[in-house]
Amino acid sequence: MSLPSSEKLPQHVAIIMDGNGRWAVKRGLPRLAGHRAGTENLRRIIRACVEFGVKYLTIYAFSTENWGRPREEVDGLMHILEDVIDHELKELNQQGVQIRHIGRLDQLAASIQKKVLDAVKTTQHNDRLVLNVAFNYGGRDEIVQAIQQIIRDGVSAEKITPDLVSSYLYTAGVPDPDLIIRTSGELRISNFLIWQAAYAEWFVTPIYWPDFGKEEFLKALETFSNRDRRYGKVDSKEYEDNHA
Ligand code: FPP
Repeated sequence: MSLPSSEKLPQHVAIIMDGNGRWAVKRGLPRLAGHRAGTENLRRIIRACVEFGVKYLTIYAFSTENWGRPREEVDGLMHILEDVIDHELKELNQQGVQIRHIGRLDQLAASIQKKVLDAVKTTQHNDRLVLNVAFNYGGRDEIVQAIQQIIRDGVSAEKITPDLVSSYLYTAGVPDPDLIIRTSGELRISNFLIWQAAYAEWFVTPIYWPDFGKEEFLKALETFSNRDRRYGKVDSKEYEDNHA
């Protein structure tokens, strides 16, 4: 696998890091061991993004629906978030990673809220990679929050455009994802970036997230670089050739 040229690289990659539980069960381990292995892999993929020149990475770490998992798993995922901030912040900062959070912070424990806000503040001027951590994130929730704020701001109906809606989302100011990767083979969007994914290219692999390493990531980037993105239009060269 070789790295595509910079103009063929996705500017924004979003990842549904799926399959941690199955990875663990297959090895006779508790599900949390899968999330820990997934966290190790996340470190590899963040490094690869910095190395390859991907500018935005959005990761789906905890959805608004994940509260319905067993208490032990929910607590474990909260603990992993704290752990990542405690142990990885220094290196992420050194790598030039700007951390942002997308989702509902107010429903998390006060100590976690503080850690997240500190990490965001510490890294706010970094510009090699913007890392959006979707934690307690749901696409429908995000759109509902946006509508509520638009109404609170008294915006008139005629002023509501796609750009205006985008500017009210958690991802305001971030370009839409070019490439969405989903590991573990499921073919669904699972309430992830449902507005922003309008023209994203998808790469789905059966590999479980903890095993989705740098080589697989390169394969996803290479596949993306060969896609023909038409945004609902037709290929202009092909059209001219056929209508000459
Ligand atoms: C989906 O796999 C994965 C999650 C719900 C959690 C993803 C979290 C990490 C990789 C840890 C990194 C986290 C932070 C906070 C930076 P699954 O459990 O649904 O797997 P399964 O479908 O095989 O059960």
